[in-house]
Amino acid sequence: MKLSEIETPAVVVDLDIMERNLAHVAKYAQDHALRLRPHTKTHKSPIIARRQLDLGAVGLTVAKVGEAEVMMTAAPDDLLVAYPVIGHRKLERLMALAGNTRITVAVDSVVAAHQLSDAAREHRREVGVLMEVDMGLKRVGVAPKDAVAFTRSVLRLPHLRYEGVAMYPGHIKMMDETGMAAIRKLSGDVESLVDDLTAAGLKPPIVSGGSTPALYHSHHVAALNEIRPGTYVFNDRNTLELGSCAMKDCAATVLCTVVSTAQPGQIILDGGSKTFSSDRLATGADAGFGELIDAPEAIFTKLMEEHGFVDVHRCHRKFEVGEQVRVLMNHVCVVMNLHEQVYGVRNGVVEEVWKVEARGKLQ
Ligand SMILES: Cc1ncc(COP(=O)(O)O)c(C=O)c1O
Repeated sequence: MKLSEIETPAVVVDLDIMERNLAHVAKYAQDHALRLRPHTKTHKSPIIARRQLDLGAVGLTVAKVGEAEVMMTAAPDDLLVAYPVIGHRKLERLMALAGNTRITVAVDSVVAAHQLSDAAREHRREVGVLMEVDMGLKRVGVAPKDAVAFTRSVLRLPHLRYEGVAMYPGHIKMMDETGMAAIRKLSGDVESLVDDLTAAGLKPPIVSGGSTPALYHSHHVAALNEIRPGTYVFNDRNTLELGSCAMKDCAATVLCTVVSTAQPGQIILDGGSKTFSSDRLATGADAGFGELIDAPEAIFTKLMEEHGFVDVHRCHRKFEVGEQVRVLMNHVCVVMNLHEQVYGVRNGVVEEVWKVEARGKLQ
């Protein structure tokens, strides 16, 4: 099947670019002796996860137990749930996986650690724990000053294996001078954290962090020994606008069809909020819902459920009903969650189609 024969709207991945992204980050991690435990929330596919493992990833990262269940198909030796797992039923499901792979959970509360410890005891398992520490995002994670006391409280609980610390530097976005200054600060803060824990006899074997925007600066955070990027597999308009990749590194786009040109200066695409999500750019810039690859002067102004409104006043060309356009999405992870399958394309031909198996696995 040719690209032009794909039914739209559809997520299309340029396989050459994706493979280059996967190989490039695998090599970066290897060159800098960083463990790579990629976050699978972006591709949500065990097929792609397996390729990451084959390229040297030490394990996989997920946010949800439902994602963990799906990722077992990729047969990882190691699985990190980098999200609080709260509630008996979820922990029961997680323990059911623990017989087949080494499970680690990031925790930032004694309540979560207690529940995990109880579940592990009931199932006669030992589960790894990473102490989640907040390094500036102010989302989850204990304050660095409380890390020693928190770690001691958690390690008093049975059936938990101390793996180290985790952090997510999602507050570092733009790779400009401000971003570089934030990375230098992060490096100092992580070093102090590790020093404090080491002085208390709690030297963390794993120091896990690493997002896509700051990915290639991970080795400047000296104490870090593990990275968990997710978005890097495809990149997206956010990654591009934040300055951490180029257009040639963006593997995923949404292929749409122009379904109406009835309004002068406007085209309607067959993809709206159910295709793109309503995510704006992470930079905060009011720059619409995506970029038309072959018509960057077009402005993707508005979404209804099944309609994408594109202002084409500034375009030098005409658009016809039935013509296909490729749109670079603002945020690829949420787009993947909206689609059942992905078309992998090379040289304009569909080479493979894979299911987005972990889409909707929110529980
Ligand atoms: C805990 C955690 N680790 C890793 C990642 C991956 O970061 P990125 O999407 O920038 O690659 C995320 C992304 O949301 C995350 O929440």
